[in-house]
Amino acid sequence: MRIFSGMQPSGDLHLGNYLGALRQWVASQNPDAFYCVVDLHALTLPIEPATLARQRTELFATFLAAGLDPEVSTVFFQSDVAYHAQLNWLLECVVSFGELGRMTAFKEKAARAEGYRVGLFTYPVLMAGDILLYETEEVPVGDDQRQHLELCRDAAQRFNHRYGETFRVPRAVVPPVAARVMDLQEPTRKMSKSLSSPLGSIFLVDSPEAIARKVSRAVTDTDGEVRPDRERKPGLTNLLEIFASFEGSPVESVAERYTRYGDLKRDLSELVVSSLAPIRERYSELLAAPEHLAGLAARGAAAAAAVAGPVYQRAARAMGLG
Ligand code: TYM
Repeated sequence: MRIFSGMQPSGDLHLGNYLGALRQWVASQNPDAFYCVVDLHALTLPIEPATLARQRTELFATFLAAGLDPEVSTVFFQSDVAYHAQLNWLLECVVSFGELGRMTAFKEKAARAEGYRVGLFTYPVLMAGDILLYETEEVPVGDDQRQHLELCRDAAQRFNHRYGETFRVPRAVVPPVAARVMDLQEPTRKMSKSLSSPLGSIFLVDSPEAIARKVSRAVTDTDGEVRPDRERKPGLTNLLEIFASFEGSPVESVAERYTRYGDLKRDLSELVVSSLAPIRERYSELLAAPEHLAGLAARGAAAAAAVAGPVYQRAARAMGLG
């Protein structure tokens, strides 16, 4: 199964990134799968060069620490494969200004960034190219990327219609639970790298103490009943979903086992700590060997370029170039 997905190196990974995306990647990896540190995307918001340089390596290490095996699938940096930037331009001449203006992620980010960059606006086009370059069938992502995926599908269909059959039209694959992990302090808002309250996000690199503190302080409700209800009990439902996702069981079966919020929270923090501990450990080992990581990334980029090159050429020729 041809799979592509990517993640931005724009800060520490949180449980949403892990449960919504990275864990699905690990489960679905195969010789035909491509997982990308989308470092070009991280330039759409202000970021110090030294910070980006550090974070992109850390994210690559996190991918491997979480269980992606570069011997099985292709793991690489977006900026190492120039076809991403090249196809972006071709697709900018296919996607319309109006379509991009409707993207909710753009509207939210632009509202907060004074004098935002053109790249923030055209970002979904770059993302569409990432996916289309690999003739992708499935894109495992969290719920917040659905709209971008629709744009990608529209762009592919329009291109094929206008210039002849060129791209495979991909589909989003969203996990059955934890596709939208919510902020622990404001459970009507999604957990995010940048926006969260200090206790709102659990990061993969958090210490066991920090995890326990965040889970125990998570906002719930006062009716005292342990049952999922996204509307009326968003905080508790979020905790149940995180639990169910880590355990791989249905939300209801977790809820049935508990009568008290405190017991649920205690077991949940143990589950999160024990699930993340091996990742944290491997992460430190991997970061201690930067040359090894660089070697793996170079191999990944060569393998990715071998697939992306012919697809790019085909698209360029279809438009009358080359
Ligand atoms: P990014 O880097 O913001 O997030 C990476 C992945 O994590 C998922 N995610 C969540 N899932 C559940 N709950 C949450 N609270 C949560 N927050 C984030 C995201 O859905 C995503 O799957 N535009 C993408 C990066 C990208 C990409 C691509 C993805 C660029 N090119 C091509 C797929 C294919 C983004 O900003 O993800």
